[in-house]
Amino acid sequence: MRKARILGSGMYLPGRLITNADLEAIKELDTSDEWIQQRTGIKVRRYVSDGESGVDMAEHACRQALENARLTRDEIEFIIYATMSPDYFLPGNGCFLQDRLFPHRTVGALDVRNQCSGFIYGLTVADSLIRANLYDYILLVGTEVHSTGLDFTREGRDVTVLFGDGAGAVVLGPAPDGHAGVIASALHSEGKFARELWLEFPASACNPRISHDIIDQGRHYPKMNGRVVFKHAVTRMVEVSHEVLAKAGKEIGDVDLFLPHQANLRINQMVAAQLGIPAAKMVNTIEWTGNTTAATIPICMCEAVTQGKLKENDLLLLTAFGAGFTWASVLLSW
Ligand code: ACO
Repeated sequence: MRKARILGSGMYLPGRLITNADLEAIKELDTSDEWIQQRTGIKVRRYVSDGESGVDMAEHACRQALENARLTRDEIEFIIYATMSPDYFLPGNGCFLQDRLFPHRTVGALDVRNQCSGFIYGLTVADSLIRANLYDYILLVGTEVHSTGLDFTREGRDVTVLFGDGAGAVVLGPAPDGHAGVIASALHSEGKFARELWLEFPASACNPRISHDIIDQGRHYPKMNGRVVFKHAVTRMVEVSHEVLAKAGKEIGDVDLFLPHQANLRINQMVAAQLGIPAAKMVNTIEWTGNTTAATIPICMCEAVTQGKLKENDLLLLTAFGAGFTWASVLLSW
């Protein structure tokens, strides 16, 4: 049976470096470098400049992924775009990216809305499309522009200090004979926890979708019950990692590298400890990226390549948890 593999990865972080000291300097936010580092492991994150969009960042990341995959744009047949912070409510970022990268021909573009699990959901869809022989080469990108939608007051400080902007992309194509490619995947959601981490407005479920009152109440900012999210993240990430390994008939000891979603370093350390994965077999970028949601895993992949931690045929475990709640895992051969 045909299999898909990742042929190359790319990433882009915008230029505005925001340190914890910069956030500490915002009096209304009432936070500190010490609190942020102790509770999350984050030291700095990047924000877009005025006018810079998710699609701008996607274009950079995709061009780098294509270069690393040694493919030209002409060979790409489909786009999958994961983001929870699209440039506009309508249409999705996939169409804007199609116009940017392929202005002279049409390309199918699918938008994925699965927050921190979006990249793994997208990877599973891409794998299925390649296996089904619908396409040969697919561009999968995750971007996030959080900085333009954060509450820089005490009310929103729990969420605000976590997030950064960024983009990550991969190119997928058919795996050559003998290469295991994408081996197994597991996807989950549990909507009864949707309101534990959500962005309520603007909402088409309400008429009008937004109002001055709603804005005055700050209900257009993301809200999170951090402790509940934390607890579920650890439990579900461990659970789904075991699930995907079992599906593939593999053991934790077979894993060469673990690339977890980057929401909080403490979550990842607890997950790795419970799984029994040593620190040397894990890549974290959160210290210098913050949580870039759908972009975190491809950014980690790029960092693993830069650090020389990925060799051909290495067994790679990707696991994520986020709003929805959604959680997901993929096991693949590099
Ligand atoms: N600066 C200073 N103090 C703060 C901040 C801040 N930025 N944020 C919260 N606090 C305070 C709280 O008000 C509270 O004060 P109190 O004791 O006086 O009431 C105290 O710190 C402790 O608050 P907790 O919420 O219990 O802190 P916790 O140790 O749980 O850390 C955090 C909070 C970092 C948000 C953690 O709960 C977490 O990481 N949760 C999971 C985040 C996550 O995984 N999100 C999913 C991905 S995002 C996505 O999918 C879109």
